[in-house]
Amino acid sequence: MRSGSRLLALAAIASTVSLLAGCDLGLPAGRTPHREGNRLDMGDQPKLKPQRKDIFLGRPTGLMAPQPGAVAVGETPYPYAQNEADKAGAELVNPLKPTADVLAHGKFVFENVCITCHGPKGAGDGHVTALFPKPPSLMTQKVRDWPDGQLFHRPMRGQGSMPSHARQVDQADAWSVVLWIREMQKTEPVAPPPAVPAAVAAATSSAPAPRAVPAAGGKP
Ligand code: HEC
Repeated sequence: MRSGSRLLALAAIASTVSLLAGCDLGLPAGRTPHREGNRLDMGDQPKLKPQRKDIFLGRPTGLMAPQPGAVAVGETPYPYAQNEADKAGAELVNPLKPTADVLAHGKFVFENVCITCHGPKGAGDGHVTALFPKPPSLMTQKVRDWPDGQLFHRPMRGQGSMPSHARQVDQADAWSVVLWIREMQKTEPVAPPPAVPAAVAAATSSAPAPRAVPAAGGKP
C-alpha cells in the first residue's frame, strides 16, 4: 500500500473512533458503558450520590439530614443561644480549677487563638487590629465583674464582629482560657471602658443590636 492511501485509511479510522466517542449514550461524562446482555451494568444505573441532587426523593442533595438531637462524635452541645450571655453567666459553673496545668493550657490557647485580635495581655492590641475591628480590652472592670460563664460564652457563640470560636476551641479549651484571662486580670491594671461604649454596649447586651437606618433621601 502506498503511504498516501495508508494515511487516508488511518484518518478514516480516527474519524470513526472520534464519532463513536462523541455518541451520547446518556451516561455521565467519563463513564464507559458495560453491558450485560442488553442491559447496562449496575454501576451505570441512577443512584444516590453524596453532595448531588437526590434523584429519588427530590431533596437538594443525597445527604441525609441528621436525626433530631444527633451529636457529632467528640462534640459537646452548647445549649445557649448567642443572645443568652446573661443566662449562661448565671447558670454555668467553670468545671476547671486554676491548677498550673490548666493555666498553662489556657495560656497556650489564648496565645494561639485569641492573641491575634486581643493582644498578648488582652488589651485589644493584637496584630490583626491593623485591619480588623479592635476588640475592647479584657481587663475592663466590666469583664472582671462578669461571671465565668459569661466570659466563656463569648468564644462559644461570638459577639458582634467576633465570630464564634467553637470550631477552634472546645469547651475545655474555652474554660481554661477563662481562667487564664482571670490570671492576667490579677496582675494587669484595670483598663478604662472602651472609647465607643455605645457600639460595644449594643453588641454586649442581650438585646438585639439596633439596625442601621438608611440615610435620608437614600435608596431604601
Ligand atoms: C478575629 C479576632 C478575634 C479573635 C481571634 C478573638 N476575638 Fe474576642 N473579640 C473580638 C472583637 C472584635 C470583639 C468585640 C466584638 C464586639 O463587641 O463587637 C471581641 C470581644 C470579646 C469579648 C467581649 C469583650 C467585651 O468587653 O465585650 C470576649 C470575652 C472575648 N472576645 C474573648 C475572646 C477569647 C477568649 C478568644 C479566644 C478563644 C477570642 N476572643 C478571640 C475579636 C476576636
